[in-house]
Amino acid sequence: MADLFDKCAASTERAAGMRATRSFPYGKPVEARDGTVVTVDGRRVIMAGSNDYLGLATDARVVAGAVAATEKYGASCTGAPIMTGTIALHRELEERLAAFLGREAAVVATTGFQTNLALATLLGRDDVVFADAANHASLVDAARLGFARHHRYRHGDTAHLERLLAGSDARGGGLIVTDGLFSMEGDVCDLPTLVDLAGRYHARLAVDCAHDIGLLGPGGRGVPAMFGLESRVDIVTGTFSKCLGSTGGFIAAERGVVDFFRHHARSIVFSAGLPPASTGAALAALDVMEAEPERRERAFALASRMRDGLRGLDLAVGGGDTPIVPVHVGDDFVCRRLWWELLGEGVFVNAVSSPGVPVGRELVRVCVTAGHSEAQVDRVVDAFARAAARVGLGAEAGAGAGAGAGVGTVAGER
Ligand SMILES: Cc1ncc(COP(=O)(O)O)c(C=O)c1O
Repeated sequence: MADLFDKCAASTERAAGMRATRSFPYGKPVEARDGTVVTVDGRRVIMAGSNDYLGLATDARVVAGAVAATEKYGASCTGAPIMTGTIALHRELEERLAAFLGREAAVVATTGFQTNLALATLLGRDDVVFADAANHASLVDAARLGFARHHRYRHGDTAHLERLLAGSDARGGGLIVTDGLFSMEGDVCDLPTLVDLAGRYHARLAVDCAHDIGLLGPGGRGVPAMFGLESRVDIVTGTFSKCLGSTGGFIAAERGVVDFFRHHARSIVFSAGLPPASTGAALAALDVMEAEPERRERAFALASRMRDGLRGLDLAVGGGDTPIVPVHVGDDFVCRRLWWELLGEGVFVNAVSSPGVPVGRELVRVCVTAGHSEAQVDRVVDAFARAAARVGLGAEAGAGAGAGAGVGTVAGER
């Protein structure tokens, strides 16, 4: 029998190779945070990779919400919501969310990941789930955990989805599941076609609005509202860890469906309730978000400035017009090297490779938030000019500055 831990040794070796080539981008600790500036390795750098799109995670009112809830209810719920772990603040937050989204009801969960895992509860042996291939890992795992047959359609390819729906002989029900705003490449699902297909093939439709609630649609009510199709989406899931600057997630739907999740979803039933601090912070963030819609506009305006600046460097900037600004690199090693060089230039972003994106679509994910200044956006663009040139990308990449020039590669890595 092989040693079960062999795979760990291989991973350790790969990480060591990445460190040796100054290209290990994972889990860098933030030592202090001051709005959009964080301290990393003792240096203050611009945070240009967080999902704090509205700049609320460090907002004094949101932090005060977390503190007040902690003082009232303690540091933990220390119990499952269905037993002793529900606090009155959970109910208040659920009612707020349901009203905000125009849904009958909502239920909160301890993380966004657990929220999406809860969908598995719906997926019985006779059912079938149709999922976009670029869906978040939590939706992929929900489909794996459920007992239903799992079909993945090519990302955004609704013709492929239709063929799968037409060919399905499921005896039970069908669920189409998609991200609203795709978090890595920044594109939006084709909701009008999805609701049309769901209607024609009698499937239910679930949309994970983790990244679009707070950003897209009237009032920041997400992708369903952006298309005016809220009544055609059966289930909306979301998280507090992006626009709402907290942690946790929720499912919003008709009351009977929400109660089904509340009483049966294992990722909700068998996990301690959403911490009071997260609950208080999310409630406070909802207040700020509704009172200050200009935050959303500012994030979009700064994102447009960032896009223009990066495109001016001849970098392959993708996505739509949202604060998610992907810079396509298309090579794992170069992507990680670019991340490293950017950190050296005082800019902290995300290096994304498989399984975050398919092999060959590696990218550096820049996120702009309402908390950034114009000057910070310009500093990020300047940093890209120098860092990209050093790894052989963009307009300023001179002769001889080939990908990863002078740094070598990990044997067998490329
Ligand atoms: C699309 C999407 N859904 C769900 C989640 C999970 O949310 P959380 O990080 O709050 O657990 C994420 C997190 O990155 C996400 O991007």
